[in-house]
Amino acid sequence: MGKFYVTTPIYYVNDEPHIGHAYTTILADVLSRYHRLFGDEVFFSTGTDEHGLKVQEAAKKRNKSPKEHCDEVVQRFLSLWDKLKVSYTKFIRTTDRQHVFVVQNMLTYLYERGDIYFDTYTGKYCVSEERFWTEKDLVEGKCPSCGRDVITIEEKNYFFKLSKYQDWLINYINEHPEFIYPQSRRNEIIGFLKNPLNDLCISRPKSRLDWGIEIPFDKNYVTYVWFDALINYISTIGVYRDNTSFKKWWPADVQLVGKDIITTHAVYWPIMLKAAGFDMPKRIVAHGWWLMEDTKMSKSLGNVVRPIDLIDKYGIESFRYVLIRNMNIGSDANFSEKLMINTINSDLANDYGNLLSRTVKMLEKYFNGKVPKPGKVKSEDKVLVEEGRKLPIDVKDNIGNLKVNEALERILNYIRMINKYIDSMTPWEIKRKGEEDRLATVLYNVAEALRISTLLLSPIILDKADEAISVFSDSVFHYIDGTNKSLKVLEWGYLKPGTVINKVDILFPRIDVSKLAKYEEKAKKTEEHERFKKGVLELNQIDISEFKKVELVVAQVLEAEKIEGSEKLLKLQIDIGDEQRQLVAGIAKYYKPDELIGKKIIIVKNLKPAKLMGELSQGMLLAASNGEDLSLLTVDKDITPGASVS
Ligand code: MSP
Repeated sequence: MGKFYVTTPIYYVNDEPHIGHAYTTILADVLSRYHRLFGDEVFFSTGTDEHGLKVQEAAKKRNKSPKEHCDEVVQRFLSLWDKLKVSYTKFIRTTDRQHVFVVQNMLTYLYERGDIYFDTYTGKYCVSEERFWTEKDLVEGKCPSCGRDVITIEEKNYFFKLSKYQDWLINYINEHPEFIYPQSRRNEIIGFLKNPLNDLCISRPKSRLDWGIEIPFDKNYVTYVWFDALINYISTIGVYRDNTSFKKWWPADVQLVGKDIITTHAVYWPIMLKAAGFDMPKRIVAHGWWLMEDTKMSKSLGNVVRPIDLIDKYGIESFRYVLIRNMNIGSDANFSEKLMINTINSDLANDYGNLLSRTVKMLEKYFNGKVPKPGKVKSEDKVLVEEGRKLPIDVKDNIGNLKVNEALERILNYIRMINKYIDSMTPWEIKRKGEEDRLATVLYNVAEALRISTLLLSPIILDKADEAISVFSDSVFHYIDGTNKSLKVLEWGYLKPGTVINKVDILFPRIDVSKLAKYEEKAKKTEEHERFKKGVLELNQIDISEFKKVELVVAQVLEAEKIEGSEKLLKLQIDIGDEQRQLVAGIAKYYKPDELIGKKIIIVKNLKPAKLMGELSQGMLLAASNGEDLSLLTVDKDITPGASVS
């Protein structure tokens, strides 16, 4: 019995889980379950990345402490993994005490060895966004996020000596061709390492960001999120060094990541491990992206696919199956509901579902619902039987080489082969001829081939495989939970003649596209779905007291003019009853200055003043926008400037 330790990236806790997160996690789950099926002991770790500015800000917006905020939003991941029946061993959160302890220990260790040092950091900083940008990020020299000027800041920080280990890493990658998978990513990293590595700035002063793990040798700093996050892969299996669990599981066998984060995992991470004296993980595996019509999913494009909607509509098992079947680790794949429907209809409803129901029917009709005793195998049975003996071995091989969708392809081909075998053996003809012994052999072969393929599909289609396997009543065993102690179940001939055959419902109904709208309606009504959606909504809700903090008033525009050098901005002088103010607004594309004069608009009065293109802006006006057009909020009756809006 071997051991298998697999990890997923830890996801940003703030994000709403989407199909990309679901894919990585399901892939890790599928690998874990195959390894268990083949007799390995498995540790499967996933979790959430909880520190950093974005979380700090999101929490502030919701008037919660960062930890409170994380405790709430982490539920979205936990409940989705629950729903998808993800069999992780550990869900690690970077706010877990054990993790914090391990990170601090590692920092101290590296500092004492001289691999972490204190130096001056120079960078471009946006005061309004409170963050650094690299020269490359800037758009025409300005902040890419808000368009404001950036300033050059010098700041003292801690650095990790990546450069010291560059040559070591290059050699290691050259000597271990299997370390980075697939080849295309390995080449990318080799190319990246042709340029000299800069040391990595691994601290942030608390004055800018305090939601992080404190640097144990300097209370004024927290550690950079990536340095914190990567360490999860060792803190999740125990407090390292002498710990038995750590010794048992490290090094990881497979560390799954998306191609977007391959550099951190194939450059920073191995160097951190090397510097701290740990072995390297066996494989860093980068899969491609799920795209929508060839474009990356993103919140701003509004093309993000939410797993929860698909699960409710098509079922957990089908969802898992479609994702695994249609992505070749290493390449990108396009997602669409059409792909989903076609895969379900052709593989699951047609090939597999039909095989199951026709097999059960024939066993009932010809053998009174029992598995018959096979007679002599004939030459025309040989291919089916031999392939049935080989299939588990080939699938195990494919899984070991991370060719998951190839494994699936083989299983599917086998299922098609069984269907063809039935068609060419024509059991009904054999029956008509009265050749009972031959009929028994053919149907035993069909039943046994079906049983083996079902077991091999079980890591993906879970409960549906359970239902299918329960057809063979006496042969039911626990192969999904825990490690499979006896590989005999995968051997041809394990199925006992005389086994009682149970009836089974249609496992994968064909999806009729014209009836899809109805499915959707039904799915939406499920209580669970409602609860989940409500959970997501509640996270975005605010108390009335939070809303009341925003002071909205009516303002009358007295003057308006363009700001030189800017295509977007207008400068307005406004009257808000008890005072006059200047306000800068990005509405130049939608309004001419003259159109605005005299208008009564709504502004946020108590917004912190800011400078835009060197002009002071005291407040912010409100406008409605659909991305193409923009319309100012005004009052529909005359009312004096300064009137409060509530
Ligand atoms: N928190 C970091 C990872 C730290 S690991 C020490 C992070 N988190 S993330 O929430 O952005 O998740 C990134 C991972 O989600 C990707 O590496 C990938 O596994 C998955 N995916 C996100 N979008 C994806 C697609 N569109 N398609 C497939 N998977 C992608 O980065």
